[in-house]
Amino acid sequence: MSTGPRPPSGLAAVSAAILAMSRHREVRDVLHTIVASARTLLDAEYAALGVPDDHGGFSQFVVDGISDRQWKAIGPLPRQHGILAAMLRDAAPQRLADVRKDARFEGWPRAHPEMSDFLGLPIADGDEVLGIVFLANKLPGGSGGFTAEDEELLGIIAQHAAIALTNARLYERSRELTIEGERARLAHELHDAVAQKLFSLRLTARAAAALVDRDPARAKRELHQVTVLAADAADELRAAVTELRPAALDEDGLAATLGAQVQVLDRAHSARIRFSSRGVRALPAAQEAALLRIAQEALHNALRHAGAAQVHVELTRRGRTTLLTVRDDGRGFDPEAVRRAGRHLGLVSMRDRAAGVGGCLTVNSSPGRGTTIETEVPGG
Ligand SMILES: Nc1ncnc2c1ncn2[C@@H]1O[C@H](COP(=O)(O)OP(=O)(O)OP(=O)(O)O)[C@@H](O)[C@H]1O
Ligand SMILES: [Mg+2]
Repeated sequence: MSTGPRPPSGLAAVSAAILAMSRHREVRDVLHTIVASARTLLDAEYAALGVPDDHGGFSQFVVDGISDRQWKAIGPLPRQHGILAAMLRDAAPQRLADVRKDARFEGWPRAHPEMSDFLGLPIADGDEVLGIVFLANKLPGGSGGFTAEDEELLGIIAQHAAIALTNARLYERSRELTIEGERARLAHELHDAVAQKLFSLRLTARAAAALVDRDPARAKRELHQVTVLAADAADELRAAVTELRPAALDEDGLAATLGAQVQVLDRAHSARIRFSSRGVRALPAAQEAALLRIAQEALHNALRHAGAAQVHVELTRRGRTTLLTVRDDGRGFDPEAVRRAGRHLGLVSMRDRAAGVGGCLTVNSSPGRGTTIETEVPGG
C-alpha cells in the first residue's frame, strides 16, 4: 500500500498526470507515467497497461504497484486472453466487482497477486484499439470496488493516453525515417567516393605485388601510390560519415580537386586519364560537391567497366551553366537496358545528385562506341 503524501485530487491531479504524460517522448516512459498516474489518482493497489502486438501477445506491458521481484516471479508477459482479449476485441470498458468470478476469467499464473475488483478500459484512437489500461483492488480494503466516477476518470486518462501514444509513435516513426534517409545518404556517399578509392587501391597493390621481384624500384613507387590512395580513402570516409563536403573542395575548389584526383588515378590505372577545364568559376558548394561525386563515379565506371585506353574529364563554363563531361573510348553499353535492369546504384546516384542541384545528366553510350556522361548544372 502506498504511504507517501496524498496526491492532489480532482482536476489538479488529472492535469498533473496529463502534463507528465506530454513531457515524455519515449513510448515506454509515456506508458509508465500513465499507469502510475492512473493508480494514484484512482486509489488502486495495482495498475497495468498493455499495447498488443500482432502475434497474440503484448509488445509493451507496464505495471505499477508490483515490485520488480514479484514481477519477475510471475514469469512471462500475459497473452491476449480472457478479459484482456475481450477489451481489445470489443473496445468496451469492464468494471467488475470480482474479476475471478467472471465467466471469461482463466486463472492467474503462479506468483500473480490476488485481484478482485477490476476496472479496465481500452485506449482507442478512433476505431483502432492502441492498448488497454486497467486497475485492480480499490483501496482501502477493496470494499466498495470501482465506481462509475472512477470509470469516467480512467476514461479521461485513456483518451490522453491515446494522444500520448499516437504522438510517441509518430515521433519514433519520424526518427526511423530520419535514420533511413541518413542510411541511404551514407550508402550513396560511400558508394560514390570511397568504393572507388578502394578499387584503385586494390589494383595498385596488385601491381606492386606483381612487380616486387622483377622491378623493385617500380614496385616501391606503386606502394607509395597505395599509401596515397589509402589516405584519400580515409579522408573520403571521414567526409562521408560526418557529412562534410570533401575537404579538398573547400581548400582548392572543384577544378583543382578534380585535376588532382585525375592525376592520382592516371598513375594508378593503365588507361590514360586527362583533365582539362575552360573558363570555370567557383560554384555554390552544393553544385561543386555534386559535380565532384558525379565525376568520381563516371571515372570509376569508365575504369572498371569500359576497358578504355583513354578517359577525358572536362569542366567547361557554358553561359550561365557549368558542364562536366566524362568521356571514354571503351566498350560502351546500352543505358536503356541497364536502367531497366535497375539494380545498379552508380547511374541512379549520379542522376539523383544532378537533379538535387537543379541540373541534368545525360548518358551517351552504345556498345563499341565508348561512353560520354554529360552533366550540366546552373551556375558558373
Ligand atoms: N563507362 C562505361 N563503360 C561501359 N559500361 C558501363 C560504363 N558505365 C556504366 N556501364 C555499365 O552500366 C552498368 C551500371 O553502372 P552503375 O554505375 O549504375 O553500376 P555498377 O558500376 O555496375 O555498380 P555500382 O552500383 O557499384 O556503381 C555497369 O554495370 C556497366 O555494365
Ligand atoms: Mg558504378
